[in-house]
Amino acid sequence: FSSSAAHIQRNPTYSVLNSDDVSYFKSILGESGVVQDEDRVAVANVDWMGKYKGASQLLLLPKSSNEVSKILSYCNSRRLAVVPQGGNTGLVGGSVPVYDEVNGILTCEAGCVLENLSSFVENKGFIMPLDLGAKGSCHIGGNISTNAGGLRFIRYGSLHGNVLGLEVVLADGTVLDMLTTLRKDNTGYDLKHLFIGSEGSLGVVTKIAILTPAKLPSTNVAFLSCNDYISCQKLLLAARRSLGEILSAFEFMDRHCINLAMKYLEGVHNPLPVSPYNFYVLIETTGSDESYDKAKLEAFLLRSMEDGLVTDGVIAQDISQASNFWRIREGISEASVKVGAVYKYDLSIPVEKLYDIVEETRSRVGDMGDVLGYGHLGDGNLHLNIVSTKYSDEMLAQIEPFVYEWTSKQRGSISAEHGLGLMKAEKIHYSKSSEAVQLMASIKKLFDPNSILNPYKVRRYV
Ligand code: FAD
Ligand code: MLT
Ligand code: ZN
Repeated sequence: FSSSAAHIQRNPTYSVLNSDDVSYFKSILGESGVVQDEDRVAVANVDWMGKYKGASQLLLLPKSSNEVSKILSYCNSRRLAVVPQGGNTGLVGGSVPVYDEVNGILTCEAGCVLENLSSFVENKGFIMPLDLGAKGSCHIGGNISTNAGGLRFIRYGSLHGNVLGLEVVLADGTVLDMLTTLRKDNTGYDLKHLFIGSEGSLGVVTKIAILTPAKLPSTNVAFLSCNDYISCQKLLLAARRSLGEILSAFEFMDRHCINLAMKYLEGVHNPLPVSPYNFYVLIETTGSDESYDKAKLEAFLLRSMEDGLVTDGVIAQDISQASNFWRIREGISEASVKVGAVYKYDLSIPVEKLYDIVEETRSRVGDMGDVLGYGHLGDGNLHLNIVSTKYSDEMLAQIEPFVYEWTSKQRGSISAEHGLGLMKAEKIHYSKSSEAVQLMASIKKLFDPNSILNPYKVRRYV
């Protein structure tokens, strides 16, 4: 590994790949399923931010659970380490969907791209319960394995609630069939939950059954500005009360984010350009009655202005305006990597305290970088990003362990939705007790005794 993961030493108990291994993989996957081409393997060895680099020499492209099973069974017996990969959009270091319209349940393979699944179910009058900026590249298997949150969480909740069943291949090649499509099933432990959010450390997810909510006919999006963070909080409370069941997103970003988005994202414009407000909020409503829903949002906006919570605001009049609003919010991560170096933190913090850490970090970093605060305010999830032209130890020393310690003191989470990955493998104790970490280590040992799955990401567990 290189970059900020440079300190990781190769574990000598893993075997080294040899030509017999490659021949075996070719015998099960064919020539096209075994990639040794350096350029193609190099793409898979680096993450979306270009920050973490691996040294794997082989990329395997299994097409079925049976092929995944044969690969893992072989790797386990040879003690070859395996990194499961989906769309490679993680931020911490071919498929045929089947649809049950009566119950609104999608069953599909892990390699489906989220956006393709969204189009597939939308054609049938449903939506996916999750949506995120990486939808065009990320795979549903990767979403399950990271327990991705995203933009619809406020309305439809966690994947722990929406995933009904999974098929998973364990480290020894066992295909574990938990692919039920039942809403209710209290027979024994609900094992699928162990695989949701375990970042490929316990098994490879190969199939998924997921609940899909009905697609409602009326969607409205508003882009608002607030002068201070307390107004953002009050606005959230007011939105919950007044918009109630039609509220489907409540995203916030500070002035620094908007400035960055305007500088680096092509084709977007600031919908509220008149003066530099301190905070911006994107509110989406989704409901079943077009005129009623819009009137409700307009009345809410007017009242919020009269109450002084909102300084300015606009409701999208067409799809292109709405997608401009969303592009600003979803494009912040893309804009931030363009600066050069990005230190990314993904925190769960009680909403009242959530912006304090942004201000404290800003004063620690000074003019070494720009500090961005944005995220899923409705879920108490802050994305704290520090951007700079290059990575430096001096900057890192201002941020860590400060951010982790501060979050831990608030009993927050150091990873709300992105997972631990390489970046935070050693930091789990800031959010979990040693007893909980020990129990995780026992579970890891039980599922993957040779520790071949996703090496180095769960060092604290083993
Ligand atoms: P990868 O990056 O390939 O893998 C992620 C992890 O899952 C790795 O540990 C990998 O080993 C494991 N894994 C992948 N596939 C499998 C499998 N089939 N079985 C077992 N393990 C597997 N996240 C959010 O939660 N909310 C957001 O709003 C959000 N927005 C994003 C926006 C952008 C622009 C980007 C780049 C990322 C964003 N993310 C967000 C991060 C998020 O974790 C990923 O985008 C997504 O869930 C990962 O899917 P992937 O297929 O790319 O997985
Ligand atoms: C987001 O909400 O935009 C994502 O989680 C990605 C990020 O924080 O970069
Ligand atoms: Zn997010």
